Amino acid sequence: MTEKNLIRKATKDDIRQIVDIHLAALPDDLLPKLGKSYLQNTFYAQIIQSDLAFILVNVENDTVNAFCVFALNGGALSSLLTKNKKKLLIPLLRGVLKNVSLLPELAAHLKGFRTELTSAKQIDFESIPELYLIAAEPLSQGRGIGSDLIGEGLKILFRNQSACLVKTSSDKARKFYQKNGFELRGVEYRGKRTMYLLVIEAETLL
Ligand SMILES: CC(C)(COP(=O)(O)OP(=O)(O)OC[C@H]1O[C@@H](n2cnc3c(N)ncnc32)[C@H](O)[C@@H]1OP(=O)(O)O)[C@@H](O)C(=O)NCCC(=O)NCCS
Repeated sequence: MTEKNLIRKATKDDIRQIVDIHLAALPDDLLPKLGKSYLQNTFYAQIIQSDLAFILVNVENDTVNAFCVFALNGGALSSLLTKNKKKLLIPLLRGVLKNVSLLPELAAHLKGFRTELTSAKQIDFESIPELYLIAAEPLSQGRGIGSDLIGEGLKILFRNQSACLVKTSSDKARKFYQKNGFELRGVEYRGKRTMYLLVIEAETLL
């Protein structure tokens, strides 16, 4: 970390900057395709109020340039976010009309995912805490900010939790998580997309 950089919990005033970073850093993911207004007014508005998650932001020169979302229970947070079908349906339909390529992934969400474990250690992927999202503004990537955010987030999480899951379909991101101590424990098949499931246990950080 530099002297000018600060990691702190996000407030609702940070949501606009968080959404801009999310859209710029992960343009090909499902969520950005649901639109800026959905992310701002529904997705992050719900997360910031929820006891099931916390968001950390990295601030440099008074500007948020990276953030991460930790869910205390990944499955429960996903259920909360998809509970209000009315708020989700219209952005989803708009997203699919603009990006037909989303259909196989959506179908996989509806059918449920097939998971294969690559490790003998049993983990209840639905109920353990999850690093739900992490992104740095493109010009700020590769300077150690993402690793700092993970370190701070895990410090908070491991005060009373023993493990953390992260899911990614990107090889680059998988290497980033492994560099930060996560181990590959399984894969999840979502239509054409294969998600790596990686886990870090608190005891490895002691
Ligand atoms: C992934 C991400 C949050 C990492 O934060 P960061 O501050 O760039 O990462 P750090 O500087 O701490 O670590 C650098 C490592 O991140 C990885 N990395 C760098 N750029 C990346 C990118 N565009 N996407 C994914 N991983 C990247 C590399 O493994 C790199 O290691 P190397 O320097 O040995 O090659 C950030 O690069 C990003 O926002 N990427 C795009 C969004 C994304 O892929 N998010 C994860 C979704 S699951």
